[in-house]
Amino acid sequence: MSTTVDSRRETTSTRREEEIRPPATIVIFGASGDLTRRLLAPAIAHLNRDGALSPDFAIIGIGRTAYSDADFRAHLESGAREFTPPNQGRPGEMPDVCSYIAGDFGDPGLYARIRRTLEECEARRGGPKNRIFYFATPPDADESIVRHVGESGLASVDGGWVRAVVEKPFGHDLASCRQLNETLLGVFREKQIYRIDHYLGKETVQNIFVLRFANGIFEPMWNHRYVDHVQISVAEAVGVGHRAGFYEHAGVIRDMFQNHLMQLLTLTAMEPPAAYEADAIRAEKVKVLESIRPFTESEIDADAVRGQYGPGVVGGRRVPGYREEPNVDPNSNTPTFAAIRFMIDNWRWAGVPFYLRSGKRLEKRVSEIAIEFKGVPHRFFSKASGEILPNVLRLHIQPDEGVSLKFGVKIPGPTLQVQSVYMDFPYSKLGAPIGGGYERLLLDVTHGDQTLFIRGDEAEHAWEVLTPILNGWEKTPPSDFPNYAAGTFGPEAADQFLEKDGRRWRTL
Ligand code: BG6
Repeated sequence: MSTTVDSRRETTSTRREEEIRPPATIVIFGASGDLTRRLLAPAIAHLNRDGALSPDFAIIGIGRTAYSDADFRAHLESGAREFTPPNQGRPGEMPDVCSYIAGDFGDPGLYARIRRTLEECEARRGGPKNRIFYFATPPDADESIVRHVGESGLASVDGGWVRAVVEKPFGHDLASCRQLNETLLGVFREKQIYRIDHYLGKETVQNIFVLRFANGIFEPMWNHRYVDHVQISVAEAVGVGHRAGFYEHAGVIRDMFQNHLMQLLTLTAMEPPAAYEADAIRAEKVKVLESIRPFTESEIDADAVRGQYGPGVVGGRRVPGYREEPNVDPNSNTPTFAAIRFMIDNWRWAGVPFYLRSGKRLEKRVSEIAIEFKGVPHRFFSKASGEILPNVLRLHIQPDEGVSLKFGVKIPGPTLQVQSVYMDFPYSKLGAPIGGGYERLLLDVTHGDQTLFIRGDEAEHAWEVLTPILNGWEKTPPSDFPNYAAGTFGPEAADQFLEKDGRRWRTL
């Protein structure tokens, strides 16, 4: 009798353990690449250190570079050490099982070897055969790998789940995104596909939900009646670095807008979802994308400004212009900066412009969402009282994470003088270190939670919105590139663009 009770208890607790820390094998395609070392390795090491991964979590790396298993582990561990920010403590070790298979992604023999290694690993471990296929590969390689995974039967398994993680960019344009989605859906179901945008892993980005939907005071004002306009800025101090091979064909729209900036826009503008649940949230984001007023290719200059950095000084250091960067065409017309006005034609946002800007080699790294409210309806303070500025709610995404509200107060004294002040909440007050985002996203993959991942139709809609800009710019090469010096906040044309609307970019 007592044995029966014990074994039943054991079954229950094992099940719970398997749900919390499911044993799984992650098969990383592109394991010798930069992304795996810079982003995945630290995330896995942190999760392992914090006991968030099953002791039976295993890694199988697939790449072109030849590594022994031991070299591969050392490669991951050095990446984890190098790319763990100082405030994150010491990274943990890699899981016990780290295997590596070198090969050509186009060779069917490679997939037979992966299958053998996977099956050995699963047989040693026992329990469910959970598999994560992680495509940390360039988009042009993804499709063929996905097809091979399907054809070799790796994606179908009895007694376990299979999930596919796909890194951005999701294609190069609408057609290639559709094609990639089709290929993925030929092998996996949408419920198994996790399209990663690491901005969704950022705490401050997730906080957009909480700020809006866990507080009573903001939501009633979150609409055209009270909001004058919204500015979303993602400024980077870094240049193209060693990524010219990719960036020359991508530019800022494909690299930053199609994913990160459109995510910030949709989260800021969406309606409250029926539940904090993947499909409810993603459906609301799609509705925002569907409501964006379509751009007209031939009149794109009215809605968008592009830029490319020239030489300049960033952080006290002289840096070359984009065209002088390694492997960049000296006559390149690739935009490294864009500022775009989006209009969302729906009930909530009618007439409220959303100005989005992003660029490389700007004065500093800072990302924020600023909601600028309408001014007071009637000003009875005299001019001598000082300038009465509109209220602004700023969500500081990075690096000084926080929320701040600007409002006017009376300066103490015998005359009536108004001054703007800020009510600030710095995230640092909470004392919890803010992780890089990948930890959370990887954990969500192991738990089967797609809330912070992009759905196929969402990626396609984002391309649809941006296609006229890409086409319009391609058809009319810029005459003024480079048009901003590294270390500034972008081209003058971007300032004039807002001035024409009677507005100014916020100082970052
Ligand atoms: C990546 C882009 O997705 O995001 C890079 O490819 C960019 O070009 C990076 O530098 C920015 O991420 P973060 O987290 O530093 O803002």
